[in-house]
Amino acid sequence: MSTLALPESPHGLNHQLVDELLAVPDHGSKIVVRAVGLTKVYRTASHETHALRGASLTVKRGEYIAIMGPSGSGKSTLFNLVGALSRPTSGKVYIDQVDIAQLDHDELAWLRCRKIGYIFQTYNLLRVMTCLENVMLPMAFAGLDSDTARDKAAWLLERVGLGHRILHKPTELSGGQQQRCAIARALANSPDIVLADEPTGNLDSRTGEEMIALLAQLQHDLGVTVISATHDHKMLQRADRILWIQDGLIVKDGKPADLELPGAH
Ligand SMILES: Nc1ncnc2c1ncn2[C@@H]1O[C@H](COP(=O)(O)OP(=O)(O)OP(=O)(O)O)[C@@H](O)[C@H]1O
Ligand SMILES: [Mg+2]
Repeated sequence: MSTLALPESPHGLNHQLVDELLAVPDHGSKIVVRAVGLTKVYRTASHETHALRGASLTVKRGEYIAIMGPSGSGKSTLFNLVGALSRPTSGKVYIDQVDIAQLDHDELAWLRCRKIGYIFQTYNLLRVMTCLENVMLPMAFAGLDSDTARDKAAWLLERVGLGHRILHKPTELSGGQQQRCAIARALANSPDIVLADEPTGNLDSRTGEEMIALLAQLQHDLGVTVISATHDHKMLQRADRILWIQDGLIVKDGKPADLELPGAH
């Protein structure tokens, strides 16, 4: 197990405890996510949409992956399947070599709570709660005692540059600050994988760039795997690998410098 070096904190945190909680797991295998032949068909009364038509991907532990492609190409659908938020019509998703279709209700809840952290375009913070409480919430679900959860939430909020706003509610924050809070919340239970769907979609260009850099920094410092579905070409400067999706198929997969992508500068 490797652990993180913690910065000095004005909150008088129990550093040893937080250090243990943030220990980076070492599971041996390098492959953290594997998807094989994913298809997804959405059916309504009058229409059938083939959102994914056989997408396969492999993600190594600690990679920063960007899933890119035109609107409607299947990015969010793929995000939802890899994040165990919906089931494929056919194909398999393996997280840490476990076929998630085999998991029962409780095991899936554990996976969503402990193994994966989610970040969404619209932040999805609870408006009635402070930043601190929003970040503590997943830890409460995971059964952590509230003193420890408070310490860790304060540390995470400081880590994402929001240490001076921990008692503010989301409505009292800028979009970028809300997304920082959502990033801290995604990291609450020290997940192996952080999934982000259009994390910069509601932000101006400069704030979006800050968010992309922050995710890269956290990926580097905490050893988490980051998978981001995004339109944002600024991601090309940070991502280790781009998966380019078109009409429900991954048509390109490689390092940003090696790919010729539509609209990339
Ligand atoms: N719940 C749903 N019911 C029916 N069709 C859906 C549903 N969700 C997505 N679709 C359709 O599936 C296709 C892929 O959608 P998806 O949201 O995955 O695209 P996307 O690449 O994330 O697009 P965007 O960049 O606009 O977010 C689209 O044609 C969309 O209309
Ligand atoms: Mg989408």
